[in-house]
Amino acid sequence: MRATAIAAALLVYSAPSESGAAIRATATIDTRAPGAQIAPEIFGQFAEELGRGIEDGIWVGPDSSIPNIGGYRRDVVEALQRLHVPVVRWPGGCYADTYHWRNGIGPRDKRPVTVNYSWGGVEQRNQFGTDEYFNFAELIGAKTYLSVNLGSGTPAEAREWVEYVSSSLRSSVADERRANGREKPWKLDYVGLGNEMWGCGGDQTAEEASAIMRRFATYLQIGPKLIASGASDRDYHWTDVLMQAQGPYHAPSPFYGISLHYYTVPTGNWEHKGSAIGFPESEWASTLGRTRQLEDMIEHHEAIMDKADPQKKVGLMVDEWGTWYDPAPGSNPAFLVQENTLRDALVAATNFHIFMRHADRVRMANIAQMVNVLQSMIRTDGARMVLTPTYYAFLMYRPFQGATALSVNVSTPNYSLGSETVPAIDVTAARGRDGATYIGLINADPNESADVSLALNGAGAVRVTGELLTASKMDARNDFGQPEQVHPVPFTSARWSAGKLQVSVPGKSVAVLKLQ
Ligand code: AHR
Repeated sequence: MRATAIAAALLVYSAPSESGAAIRATATIDTRAPGAQIAPEIFGQFAEELGRGIEDGIWVGPDSSIPNIGGYRRDVVEALQRLHVPVVRWPGGCYADTYHWRNGIGPRDKRPVTVNYSWGGVEQRNQFGTDEYFNFAELIGAKTYLSVNLGSGTPAEAREWVEYVSSSLRSSVADERRANGREKPWKLDYVGLGNEMWGCGGDQTAEEASAIMRRFATYLQIGPKLIASGASDRDYHWTDVLMQAQGPYHAPSPFYGISLHYYTVPTGNWEHKGSAIGFPESEWASTLGRTRQLEDMIEHHEAIMDKADPQKKVGLMVDEWGTWYDPAPGSNPAFLVQENTLRDALVAATNFHIFMRHADRVRMANIAQMVNVLQSMIRTDGARMVLTPTYYAFLMYRPFQGATALSVNVSTPNYSLGSETVPAIDVTAARGRDGATYIGLINADPNESADVSLALNGAGAVRVTGELLTASKMDARNDFGQPEQVHPVPFTSARWSAGKLQVSVPGKSVAVLKLQ
């Protein structure tokens, strides 16, 4: 497999040619001052019952002619296994607040056909239900994150769902699980209390939502970590209200985390979001600029959380993020199908850097979504599958899962176009669980290459290996039946000079280096 070959490819002290780069940046990495641990869950994913996200994308059923492992697409499962997906959130999204879990258990040929009112009013055959989700998570080695229905469900329904999944007692509900073929309880790690309660999750005010979530939380304090349905974008009042919430009898906050949703829409206009391919450079710039705005939002939400919780017990979970473009021409607009290009890989890497810089508060983040929906890792078409540039960004940043963040100071010129300005170079660094130092480096300028001088306090001239993701076009992508246009290649432009690591990167690129 290509990724393995790349991981093994070495670069040692190979001097770059005279690069003539227009961008010159410096960064100082303090390897002696370890920061927070980067929760692996920061590289989490989200899979909703939406369009072809699950049916066709993950699940084809055991009788399908598409090669499968007990109904799960073999190609998709193997690709996800390579990513080491730390956590997968399911079943929504908006769909979660209409979902009644009992429709998705028991013999699959007897399950009711319901209507997916959230996404296109299509028939929902409920073939991928609770058992299929938990077995899928086990298959790919991911933690589980169930969003329970607060919008149209009851606390009793939610509690019985948790009992069905995770109880080792001989209760009738747990026995139903056994009768359906699963003796041992599954591991339920996180429970999301509804979704977007300010919108599709019941159209509540922050105060109303807080009351509803506290009521449900009262009955769900039975193991999993509870994550409150949080704010969108810059709704700081929402976070403030949730941070004041207490459990029964003045117990501390019932929430292990509070979520935040933010999507990158190139134009900022939800009616005309911008195209996923064939976009002008102005939308390259605005896409990266709008992605970087998330850092400012996180800082503001953090400031509110710090006031109520200086010990940082409650996590900020960015459990929906990613690009959202106009739907692919000819697709069902409710299915949120979009192409995925090199630009998406830079958006992913930019978000990783932001989350890692805030690893002391951001404990989970879930890209929307896993397969065939929005900024997906993977796209499928019948028996065919492609890995998107976003997939490769996740693959390259895998060593950052569970690593220890290192402090980085970057001095860089900006990349500007029209009214949009972003730092041209972004650098992040961490000490991996294997003891190596990892550096992530983004050049946001689509036209200019960069020379970056990295001073590593506390590290000498050590061996450097690496991978680079770039392409000649801003909208380069991987397409069905074509050779891959965008995939990581060995990084060959680094050398030590005067105690610093001198790195040359092309325009519109992402690099991950390993120093050991
Ligand atoms: O990811 C698609 C949708 O975006 C989710 O269902 C919802 O939570 C958000 O608005």
